[in-house]
Amino acid sequence: MKSLFSAAQPPSCEGRLSHIAFIMDGNGRWAQRRHLPRKAGHARGAETFRNLLDWLEPTGIRYATVYAFSTENWRRPPDEVEALMQLLSRYIDTFGKTAVERNVSLRFIGNTELLPVDLQEKMRALEAQTESGTFVLQVAFSYGGRAEIVHAVNDLIASGAGIVTEGDISAHLFTAGIPDPDLVVRTGGEYRTSNFLLWQSAYAEYAFTDTLWPDLTRRELYAILRDFLHRRRRFGGVTDASDNASDGK
Ligand code: FPP
Repeated sequence: MKSLFSAAQPPSCEGRLSHIAFIMDGNGRWAQRRHLPRKAGHARGAETFRNLLDWLEPTGIRYATVYAFSTENWRRPPDEVEALMQLLSRYIDTFGKTAVERNVSLRFIGNTELLPVDLQEKMRALEAQTESGTFVLQVAFSYGGRAEIVHAVNDLIASGAGIVTEGDISAHLFTAGIPDPDLVVRTGGEYRTSNFLLWQSAYAEYAFTDTLWPDLTRRELYAILRDFLHRRRRFGGVTDASDNASDGK
């Protein structure tokens, strides 16, 4: 019988899972169930987000991307939008101090020009300050997958490109230079991609859990990683003769 202790041990993902991405869903419901304002759910969700680094560090995963604010989230009530901006701003202020020590490189992806100028400045300063970190943490903020692809295509048109390749588009996304995600985890019991990393997730595996983001634990994350490590990824091809009858998707 597996002990509880072993379930909390970090699985070794080296060479199998380089980039993990998270759709952090369920903050609002977490708050509503406690008769708290939605922003209290985001504040609690930010704690889970802060824990991620500790949880991922021993697994050998080197890239993580979190979906913190989508282009659609601009339609939320102003006080909720404001609360999310403040959370990000506070995170930058506090984490900036330790990011370099922890060897973490922060990157912000999205239409960040829509954000308050002082926040944009803080983001760019933290990116510059942490540029050489070996663990890359991307925060998608004011981000939409379709908008990102349109942005890349317009960049290519502006540069005078004629016929373009998949590689050209990848190289003009906000995530240029970062490997595509191997695994996208969505909490909160919804089974959607919600415009997140649309191009980059073409061959990603997905994991869905009903757990609300603020309730995600290290133990559950490691169970999700173990499940991923047991999957056979085919990238549209076949892995062995027994797979020949399949359509390879
Ligand atoms: C979706 O839950 C979550 C968000 C829109 C925000 C996610 C943000 C955090 C976890 C805070 C992270 C930290 C930074 C750096 C800002 P929802 O509100 O749609 O939940 P619901 O589906 O239960 O309503």
